[in-house]
Amino acid sequence: MCGIIGYIGVEEKATNMIMEGLSKLEYRGYDSAGIAIFTPSGICVEKTKGKLVNLADHLAQIGFPQGYAGIGHTRWATHGEPSDVNAHPHWSQDHSVVVVHNGIIENYAQLREELIAAGDTFLSDTDTEIIPHIIARYYREDKDPVQAISRAIQRMRGSYALGIMFADRPGELYAARKDSPLIVGLGQNENYIASDIPAVLAHTRDVYLLEDYDIAILNTEEIRIVDLEGNPVHREIFHVTWDVASAEKGGFPHFMLKEIHEQPHVVRETLASRLQENMDAPKMDDLGISKEVLDGLERIYMVACGTAYHAAMVGKYLIERVARLSTIVETASEFRYRDPIIDEKTLVIVVSQSGETADTLAALRMSKQAGAKVLGIVNVVGSSISREADYVFYTWAGPEIAVASTKAYSCQLAAMYLLTAHFALLRGKMTPQEFHDLKGDLIGLPAKIGEILKKEEEIKAIVDSVDPLNVFYVGRGLDYYTGMEGSLKLKEIAYLHSEAYAAGELKHGPIAMIEPGTLVIGIVTQKSLIEKTVSNLKEVKARGAQVLCITTEDADLALIQSVADQMITIPDCNWMFTSLLANIPQQLLAYYMSVKKGYDVDKPRNLAKSVTVE
Ligand code: F6R
Repeated sequence: MCGIIGYIGVEEKATNMIMEGLSKLEYRGYDSAGIAIFTPSGICVEKTKGKLVNLADHLAQIGFPQGYAGIGHTRWATHGEPSDVNAHPHWSQDHSVVVVHNGIIENYAQLREELIAAGDTFLSDTDTEIIPHIIARYYREDKDPVQAISRAIQRMRGSYALGIMFADRPGELYAARKDSPLIVGLGQNENYIASDIPAVLAHTRDVYLLEDYDIAILNTEEIRIVDLEGNPVHREIFHVTWDVASAEKGGFPHFMLKEIHEQPHVVRETLASRLQENMDAPKMDDLGISKEVLDGLERIYMVACGTAYHAAMVGKYLIERVARLSTIVETASEFRYRDPIIDEKTLVIVVSQSGETADTLAALRMSKQAGAKVLGIVNVVGSSISREADYVFYTWAGPEIAVASTKAYSCQLAAMYLLTAHFALLRGKMTPQEFHDLKGDLIGLPAKIGEILKKEEEIKAIVDSVDPLNVFYVGRGLDYYTGMEGSLKLKEIAYLHSEAYAAGELKHGPIAMIEPGTLVIGIVTQKSLIEKTVSNLKEVKARGAQVLCITTEDADLALIQSVADQMITIPDCNWMFTSLLANIPQQLLAYYMSVKKGYDVDKPRNLAKSVTVE
């Protein structure tokens, strides 16, 4: 989720062009930045921790040269904390190759071992640093840059967008990608590489959108694109018609919508960080939770706020039901003040996108002080929670800019699915065959998110057709927790009063609120509970409510249609995953409701992205 820019031209202005491009990309990550420039005496690399302004000040201070070509990077840390040394670009051992990288190399640890055994040494904690090392080795053998890049790529598993420079080829830049966006921009006597279109839009509107396994070779006059065998590949020029402001959001009108659409990719990244097709169990050995540790625990708490709390509710439900481990979930602001039972036989799992939420951080510190081990499920590398927790499970959602959390929640749920499987396998509550089936379902999850996103227009039309006074989200089991998240999203960006209720609780009070003008959203995905929820929905419909149901394609649709005024279906899926999938339409409902009302979707009133005060 970092930003890449590359520039090659006939005028000596590469540093300015790269810094300008990086400023357009800073929203993608800003914990460190770096630049590499060809100069007559070789490649110069400079990098600094912190925002881009730190790099700009540093370059000015040292009188950094301009050069004719170079690459730059603004980082959102994944492997290795934000620091000067972990910032990109990274060198090869022999300083013949320099690389900037977006994405995650999943087998980097294995490749790093191999390179160390062959005599290489590494300076950083990043996965990226192996890339220039491998390319340089092949380049020494083949003397052919494309072949060296191609051979290196074939050794790497994971996702990458790469900008590459070879010290002995000052007139050329190289680019390659797989599962991480990268474009090449066409200019007059100058050409560009960028992870996002906004970085080049001030200079060109004509770009090639590279595809997986494309390798691009740029000089000042031409751009060649080849495949892994070095055969030329034809790509159409894409002419960008968006303005700069909307392009920063990748063409989406709001960051929230962009982030909703990123979910197939980021859920895939989160799952892939710990689960590969050939594995018999998720890779969790860094989390300090062995069978002995688990057997010795007397209690597990999950502590979080807001959306992260809703992800924790889903986690608790799954861990109890599948791994048969009792788990208590609490909002951090309550947990920290009620003197809960915490000792060395306690595991506390804190969940936080930002890793900076004051109450969650306080709960972590209190738990550690009382002797508990703390596992953080965190999105921001280098955040306070990630530094202070005993163990960290990173979600790889990338920077979440919109205040309303969307993609981070989906990645938190992906983490919960993996944690549940881990606990269940350790406790013998899941057979190898059951895990095998679950793994297949997990790997198929991003594609199902993609299918739901295709229903955007349908969901927008539903929003256009309703004008509720207030809204209730109701469901049973997991569906109740899903509704809690739907309700929060509607409140925070559409300022519509809404409540989430366990469907069976309606008649214990809230049904008194139901009247014409009330919209009741029934989440009806748990097969064994459908009839019961439908009965509850009939009760509200009889009292004048409008009913919208979110259900799975393989449910008893006739039964649901008997009560629903409108219906949104999600693909059939493993029962465990419905809180993730059914939430995608909920996100879109809230988004389009906010747009319809003309509110500031990305910056709703009274809210802040990171709640660092109590
Ligand atoms: C809702 C939302 C908030 C956060 C909450 C916790 O869309 O974003 O409810 O989920 O403030 O924040 P983190 O996860 O950063 O600890």
